[in-house]
Amino acid sequence: MCGIVGYTGFQDAYDIVINGLRRLEYRGYDSAGIVLESTNNKFEVEKTKGKVDDLVNISSQLKGTAKIGMGHTRWATHGVPSDRNSHPHLSNNGKIALVHNGIIENYDTIKTMLTEKGFTFKSETDTEVLVNLIQYFMDINSDTDFPTAVRYALNEVYGAYAITVLHEDYPGVLVVGRLGSPLAIGIGEKEYFIASDASPFVEFTKEAIYLEEGHMATISLEKGVDIRTINDNSKIEPEIQELKLSLEQIEKGGYEHFMLKEIFEQPKSIHDTMRGRLLVDEGVIKMAGIWDHVERFKNANRIIIIACGTSWHAGLIGEYLIEEYARIPVEVEYASEFRYRNPIITDKDVVIAISQSGETADTMAALKLAKEKGAFIYGICNVVDSSIARITDAGSYTHAGPEIGVASTKAFTAQLTILTLIAFKLGKHNGNLGNADFMSLIAELDAIPKKIEEVLNTTHELVQNIAKDFVNATNFLYLGRGYNYPAALEGALKLKEISYIHAEGYPAAEMKHGPIALIDENMPIVIIAPKKGHYDKIVSNVQEIKARKGKVIAVVNKGDQQVSAMADYVIEIPETSECFSPIVASVPLQLLAYYIAVYRGANVDQPRNLAKSVTVE
Ligand code: F6R
Repeated sequence: MCGIVGYTGFQDAYDIVINGLRRLEYRGYDSAGIVLESTNNKFEVEKTKGKVDDLVNISSQLKGTAKIGMGHTRWATHGVPSDRNSHPHLSNNGKIALVHNGIIENYDTIKTMLTEKGFTFKSETDTEVLVNLIQYFMDINSDTDFPTAVRYALNEVYGAYAITVLHEDYPGVLVVGRLGSPLAIGIGEKEYFIASDASPFVEFTKEAIYLEEGHMATISLEKGVDIRTINDNSKIEPEIQELKLSLEQIEKGGYEHFMLKEIFEQPKSIHDTMRGRLLVDEGVIKMAGIWDHVERFKNANRIIIIACGTSWHAGLIGEYLIEEYARIPVEVEYASEFRYRNPIITDKDVVIAISQSGETADTMAALKLAKEKGAFIYGICNVVDSSIARITDAGSYTHAGPEIGVASTKAFTAQLTILTLIAFKLGKHNGNLGNADFMSLIAELDAIPKKIEEVLNTTHELVQNIAKDFVNATNFLYLGRGYNYPAALEGALKLKEISYIHAEGYPAAEMKHGPIALIDENMPIVIIAPKKGHYDKIVSNVQEIKARKGKVIAVVNKGDQQVSAMADYVIEIPETSECFSPIVASVPLQLLAYYIAVYRGANVDQPRNLAKSVTVE
């Protein structure tokens, strides 16, 4: 949800900001803008509806000379994507420029107040209200300096924000603040970078400060970084962290899209997620986050998993895993529903939040609610030090590496890996998973990266060919049973979000309770039918589909006979225990969605209307 980049130093600010925005475009990409400060302290603002490439087409007088500037790539909340609504926004006096990620919920009340005081607005955004509120605080008291005015303004607003602000009368000074949206400050030699994540500055410095919730900072080459609390201006000692991110991780590495690269990274990302945790030779799973709190899990009345989207699908598979192997009751909830439905939560509950980004606003709010009610909260996040990771009592990182394609792939299978480890660990500990079964399951889990590699090698070309036949499809059904029902939901989500083809996932047996009415010779049906997992029942479901002339694309185990004989297209995957089949089966479904989208000419990494981190409700 919107990307922010800022810079002050000795390099060309234009280049730093534009290149940084390109790296943050996964966060939002309906408009882009930049403001540069000239050597005689005047702003040049360029902004446009569209992508960073469209912004680059507008010529900049200050390219090559400005040493300070900031930019923004937008995912529209208030007001349609348009030149006017793009950031940066300027205050009425033209002296203050602001870029913002998040939502100011009380912007309307403030706008009315400012309008009554004579302020006018060019855009429909909440951001323009905030920049004028800063001006207002400086107007009403000439003793109020720029950082103080920003602080006053932030104390008046509620909602979520990460902001960066410049003032023409304060040359070389960047003021930043955050609440609910991330912001990192990169510390270079005689230069500072600001960004929504560290990717824009990773090649320039390995040192960064992740601004904490409710903090702001005033940054200048002269005075360094001065961090304060927004509510009472208390000084905070900066905590400088060393970045683990490498440039290679955030580049496409020869792949056409990040999504394809990330699909192919899965053998490694699953392996990395298990590394140091799954010790097959010693017959143990080491997970400090679980082990240090194992009694909380063991004595839990129930585990509630909260998440959104793909992470919610991982949660559904987590329910199957934990209930089967640890015999602890699990409920899975959409974070957005959980937070508003007055759920019953006690201090005997364990709440697991799953979030790739660790930023999702609904998941964050649901977690806070669970925490207030005394539940033990556990996080499964991919982004290290993200907001969700920080507020949980304990957690496990997925170590999938940066996921840049908007459609989640490797983060999903890494989430499944962590949930599998948790289920096995808890089951072993509470005696529901006997030693022999535990040993054989962990050996199988250890071999999953190899199986994924095999799937990638054997299905890649085949799936490309299948995809060609469905470029003009308008609907798809995805069916699976047991562990593969959530895998079917995930397959359908992948297809719809990147190809814009309508797709529904269903438990295969539910088909006859409604969706069967949709089936005719034009309806493609992807059915996940591994040997282990209600195979006979799936065979009957395929028969029911074929009796109505539906086109079946079956994901089956190698050597399968019955389903393969009936299916129109067959994708073979290696056989596994049922609990591992969603990890393996998801890979060809990701490839199918990817190639259908590519053949339809869609922008796979930046699908319309979506953004990677959903930091608004
Ligand atoms: C789909 C997708 C989204 C996210 C959802 C939650 O491919 O990526 O559905 O899974 O927005 O995001 P996180 O996991 O970051 O909380």
